[in-house]
Amino acid sequence: MMAHLFFLALTLQFSTVTARLFTVVNACPFTIWPAIFTDPTIAQNVPLFPTGWESPPFTSVQFGVPDNWKAGRIWGRRNCNFSTNLGPSACLDGGCNGGLQCDPRTGTGVPPATVAEWTLQGDGNLDFYDVSLVDGYNLPMAIIPSASNCSVASCPIDLGPSCPVPLIGPFDSTGFPVGCKSACVANLDNPTDSSNCCTGSHNTKVTCPSSNVQFYSYFKGNCPNAYAYAFDEGSGTALWTCSSALNSDYTLTFCPCVLLTYPSTVPADINPTLTTECGTQTYSR
Ligand SMILES: *[C@@H]1O[C@H](CO)[C@@H](O)[C@H](O)[C@H]1NC(C)=O
Ligand SMILES: *[C@@H]1O[C@H](CO)[C@@H](O)[C@H](O)[C@H]1NC(C)=O
Repeated sequence: MMAHLFFLALTLQFSTVTARLFTVVNACPFTIWPAIFTDPTIAQNVPLFPTGWESPPFTSVQFGVPDNWKAGRIWGRRNCNFSTNLGPSACLDGGCNGGLQCDPRTGTGVPPATVAEWTLQGDGNLDFYDVSLVDGYNLPMAIIPSASNCSVASCPIDLGPSCPVPLIGPFDSTGFPVGCKSACVANLDNPTDSSNCCTGSHNTKVTCPSSNVQFYSYFKGNCPNAYAYAFDEGSGTALWTCSSALNSDYTLTFCPCVLLTYPSTVPADINPTLTTECGTQTYSR
């Protein structure tokens, strides 16, 4: 009897700790350095994987994520060099405290950065996920749930080259823009009382409409299924849910449109999944 109970306990623990399979694909034709952060004030359960790694072009990794992962985020860092610098400026954007592996307590990404966010088993037994542009943009990405009736969250378009002048950058050594700041991150108004950041007298859904967020339409127009400012739930296409009962796995693909643009360069195990959102994308780098 005891042995049986012990076995049951082990089985339950395994299923609650590693039930979801996450796949992170780099479909960009250049190296990126993905990173994971879990808000330690909200969640103790973290993915069973390093908090940062180097991802060469057209490669992917897989790891287990707790069934109830909360306040988790994954993003990509660009143009990193950790040989002498382990701080946030070791990367051109998205950098964190800690070096290749981000500090589990303080290792959030430096904006601008496109961020994939999850809260699994949230209110109503729903998984919540989104692709956030609240801190600006640095890489195209798509979150693809394995549960087929759950929606893709995405910003599949490269928002760098056409970024409005007050927001564009940083730039790499060739002058190519590897980021596009949000109006909030670019400090276009008073950040403590800002209709771009939804702070101060603008800190509610009602007092911070998207119509008062500068350049909102650049982000939302190009990436309608992304979360483009602090109260973007109202758009109906920002924050996505998937019944937690489905135990969905998730694939996060960086540069998802490259899979469609250059399919022959991509290993067979990395499946193109976005068909309508990509248009005719070309990635020159
Ligand atoms: C990384 O930085 C080091 C120290 O500044 C430099 O010597 C090295 O060339 C850099 N590596 C690359 C690949 O740029
Ligand atoms: C998805 O489909 C499954 C199986 O048909 C169903 O149980 C579930 O409620 C559906 N989920 C959503 C979010 O529609």
